[in-house]
Amino acid sequence: MDMIKTLGDAGIIPVIVIDDIEKAVPLANALVKGGLPVLEVTFRTSCAAEAIAKIKAEVPGAVLIAGTVLTLKQLVAAKDAGAEACVAPGFDPAIVKAANELGVPFCPGVATASELSQALALGCKMVKFFPAESAGGVKYIKDLLGAFRWTGVKFMPTGGVKLSNVGEYLAVKEIICCGGTWIAPKDAIASGDWAAIEKLASDAAALAKEIKAKFA
Ligand code: 3PG
Repeated sequence: MDMIKTLGDAGIIPVIVIDDIEKAVPLANALVKGGLPVLEVTFRTSCAAEAIAKIKAEVPGAVLIAGTVLTLKQLVAAKDAGAEACVAPGFDPAIVKAANELGVPFCPGVATASELSQALALGCKMVKFFPAESAGGVKYIKDLLGAFRWTGVKFMPTGGVKLSNVGEYLAVKEIICCGGTWIAPKDAIASGDWAAIEKLASDAAALAKEIKAKFA
């Protein structure tokens, strides 16, 4: 998968936490129907790999990214489940190297110039900026770009990004997409409120489209 193209085209990536495997398919259906086909299923719960495989098999149009991939075991499980790429909140050179060896596109998390430098040295072309709002938000990324723009690095900020501030991020050319849990809230998943989730997804997708058209 061309990670930069696929995530960039999506613009907004729902960061999903699935506690109950039975919720995986209806949740993914609502998000895809709302216009957000690229889904980050996080390895924060034990059914993550199963959820990735199930969504992949049962939800046409969904593109599966594994999130919160912290260990080699999770990396292999994500690949075996059919994830097209993996992302992590932090930068662990051992995992990035293992992903490179396995041929899995990997987007590590960075929050400093030193981490970004190391990620680039391992061949990463795209990084997650996490936790975006707490670490300094758009201004911090712009300051990093002052030094790193020439490398061509692309950013995916997550952590505190929501409908009210995602526009500021997506207005920066090098920020190709943003991730967030606001599109798939825990309560709505628990109660099976798929209509509410579809609406959150369609509002987010419409905004991403509008901003991208403006800054294209
Ligand atoms: C992530 O892993 O990307 C974050 O947990 C998302 O942060 P949020 O809950 O503030 O959207």
